[in-house]
Amino acid sequence: MRTDSPQTIFRKDYTPPSYLVHTVELGFDLDPARTIVANRVTLSRNPASKSKDLVLHGEEIDLVALRMNGKTLAPGQYVLGSHTLTIPKAPAEVTLEIETLCAPELNTTLSGLYVSNGSFYTQCEAEGFRRITYFPDRPDVMAKYTVMLRADKQRYPVLLSNGNLLEQGDLDGGRHYAKWEDPFKKPSYLFALVAARLVCQEETYTLKSGREVLLQVWVEEGNLDKTDYAMQSLKNSIRWDEERFGLELDLDRFMIVAVGDFNMGAMENKGLNIFNTKFVLANPRVATDIDYAGIEAVVGHEYFHNWTGNRVTCRDWFQLSLKEGLTVFRDQEFSADMIGTASGRAVTRIDQVRTLRQAQFPEDAGPMAHPVRPDSFVEINNFYTVTVYEKGAEVVRMYQTLLGREGFRKGMDLYFQRHDEQAVQCDDFRAAMADANGRDLAQFERWYSQAGTPVVTASTRYDAAAQTYDITLSQRCPDTPGQTGKLPFHIPVAVGLLGADGKDMALALDGEVVGATTAVLELKEAEQTFRFTSVREQPVPSILRDFSAPVVLEYPYTDAELLHLFRYDSDAVNRWEAGQRLAMARLLKLTAAVAQGATLALDDTFIAAQRAVLVDETLDAAFRELALVLPSETIIAEQMEVVDPHAIHAARQFMRRTIARELAPELLAQYQANQTPGPYSPDAQSAGKRGLKNLALAYLLIDPGSAELKLAQRQFEQATNMTDRAAALSALIHSGEDVRASLQSFYDDFAGEALVVDKWFAMQGAAPNTDVAAVRKLMQHPAFTLKNPNRARSLLFSFCNANPSQFHAKDGSAYDFWAEHVIALDALNPQVAARLARSMDRWRRYAPALQDQMRAALERVARAAPLSNDVMEVVSKALA
Ligand code: ARG
Ligand code: ZN
Repeated sequence: MRTDSPQTIFRKDYTPPSYLVHTVELGFDLDPARTIVANRVTLSRNPASKSKDLVLHGEEIDLVALRMNGKTLAPGQYVLGSHTLTIPKAPAEVTLEIETLCAPELNTTLSGLYVSNGSFYTQCEAEGFRRITYFPDRPDVMAKYTVMLRADKQRYPVLLSNGNLLEQGDLDGGRHYAKWEDPFKKPSYLFALVAARLVCQEETYTLKSGREVLLQVWVEEGNLDKTDYAMQSLKNSIRWDEERFGLELDLDRFMIVAVGDFNMGAMENKGLNIFNTKFVLANPRVATDIDYAGIEAVVGHEYFHNWTGNRVTCRDWFQLSLKEGLTVFRDQEFSADMIGTASGRAVTRIDQVRTLRQAQFPEDAGPMAHPVRPDSFVEINNFYTVTVYEKGAEVVRMYQTLLGREGFRKGMDLYFQRHDEQAVQCDDFRAAMADANGRDLAQFERWYSQAGTPVVTASTRYDAAAQTYDITLSQRCPDTPGQTGKLPFHIPVAVGLLGADGKDMALALDGEVVGATTAVLELKEAEQTFRFTSVREQPVPSILRDFSAPVVLEYPYTDAELLHLFRYDSDAVNRWEAGQRLAMARLLKLTAAVAQGATLALDDTFIAAQRAVLVDETLDAAFRELALVLPSETIIAEQMEVVDPHAIHAARQFMRRTIARELAPELLAQYQANQTPGPYSPDAQSAGKRGLKNLALAYLLIDPGSAELKLAQRQFEQATNMTDRAAALSALIHSGEDVRASLQSFYDDFAGEALVVDKWFAMQGAAPNTDVAAVRKLMQHPAFTLKNPNRARSLLFSFCNANPSQFHAKDGSAYDFWAEHVIALDALNPQVAARLARSMDRWRRYAPALQDQMRAALERVARAAPLSNDVMEVVSKALA
């Protein structure tokens, strides 16, 4: 909780630590109510610092004893602040022995040492270590750790920490111990311990070098039937990092532990990754295709951090994207390579584009907009954002687009050569990329320093006589809080030209043969013209292929051109994009028509284009599904000056109904044709079929009283996997029929599976017929609790973020609900509360009647006391 007024921390104020740590020996006497932490740490004065004051961070811990170089320090020899312990004018060489107390069972923030389902876990990133012991808790302080754990043997039979197990044994009084040593230097945020009643799936795995390593996936007893996929994903990750980047696992032992109470997805603690159960546990009965894909991605992500994050870490938290953007890029490439086909790769890319538009573009245009490398923050936990992660990954991807795969690899190699075991900055990564390739990437720095989504406007001119085709690209970037007058970015714009036959033209730029059917134009000025030569006919331009930069592209495409691209573009991302543009133009017109009370209509051309894709058997099912999913209500809202969520919902529903009605026979045929009989497999091909089939099912159930209700009912009852069962239930819920019996039977079947119960809440929270009263009623369900982040997210976040037509109820009742629960959650878990607080980011774009009520709700939260820094930062920026 906030004790003094929130402080803004600035990147420009960075100073090196006054002391560096060599070794840390930690002793834990674990007890839920009263854990004793003994910390013996050796430090030396840092020659790079002018200060002789030894500053340690500490929060919510009680100091019991403090000795320096063997002598107890008298109260006058140190200063205990609310969040620091300072020893002024400390000697050059220091050994500190610090004993503190904490109460893990009272720690509901899930940061530091906490209890989940009776066992101990830690989460130290970003600043949780200071909740365990006094320490210079900053990532540029790297040290070697030895850890002794002591706990009751019956209740906590498994004692884990980073690195290698040195010894273990029994103690008096039914207790036991385990001693661990991490051979690598690490920052404190990578420390972890687990003391729990767990079981594991384990395996000896042989690295390419021939060295053998022990791999373990630790879970609670009843979940041992759900660890196969995580283990398989871990082995795939190890192999992939060896092959693609020449990076080998540097430990003899690598552990993954699943915990039910966790704030984020997972954590890359050295050798001891701790995961939200959501990203570990899967079998066909309980996990969907999306869950399986999430597990593969997150297991990969955390494993890849071992090099990008752990071996090379961040100098300070402003550099967070150095590890996160790069590691997201790596996990994206891993997932794409696991599918292996070009079309599968494109499907993963389309998913990434959707995430950016759904979440990152709005963030970049809202009150919390920040550069990939922020300049300031109040609470660092608020900056684990889609901008730092996903836009950060786009920035890394652009290096690869500009330098090629080989050039990118050279840059990575140089990065590790220069910075292994160092804490560095985003600029160091950029320098490695530039130096390894002899390229000037100075201007590229603006991707790190300037917030906001650039808008690239294209115009074209074909000269039939000269056979030239000019593409003029111009760029601008809107102002964001605290940043005006942006300078031009270095933007790779991948372009192809389609002929009337739908084929890619051979390309020449200013007379030079490109040698590929896609050219990467480098836009560096405010405006530049690129001339394609020997262009024999008027082409249709396919601009920003593979989404080559995280920008908004404006080009006055005609319907005819978009239909051409939607039918022929060899670049699957732009092919999909053409369909989205066709849909968006109509959705915006329909939304305006709803608002004016005009009659709604949808043209046959659009329907025909949708039909053509739906039945095109040469296309992957996964691609066809993506092509048929209409832009979300959130993405439509982002296109409007003044957002009318009810009109958007009505317009989109009208479009879906019309498609469903017009394409009913084809949808039914696809439903039948894309069944996946036989045992469940999460592979991309099968998942794609299920995706298309279940999209068809959802369409078939849109019309009230649909004749296909029985189809969904049958699928619901007979499904042999969760993907099909959940999709059927969701379609039933959205049909608007009375589905209470189905909901009840689903709940009864899966009441013991927390992650499935989460789905049950989430489906209802996001259903357009769930109003705020229904959500309040669901909160009374015995399985609901605010204390578990997954559960809180399942109902509250799905309602507040994924159910816009109800969240924006005209009477403002859902805004009151939001305020009430941001405040309630804040008392338990500020990090989770601050995420919920973000639901109001875009409030200024709504019609005045809604805006006023949203402001009132924000003000209500801002006035609440006490309020965490986390929530205070979000609401005060929203109101600013
Ligand atoms: N480094 C972790 C990951 O991206 C995220 C942990 C962040 N946790 C937090 N409480 N801020 O894999
Ligand atoms: Zn990460």
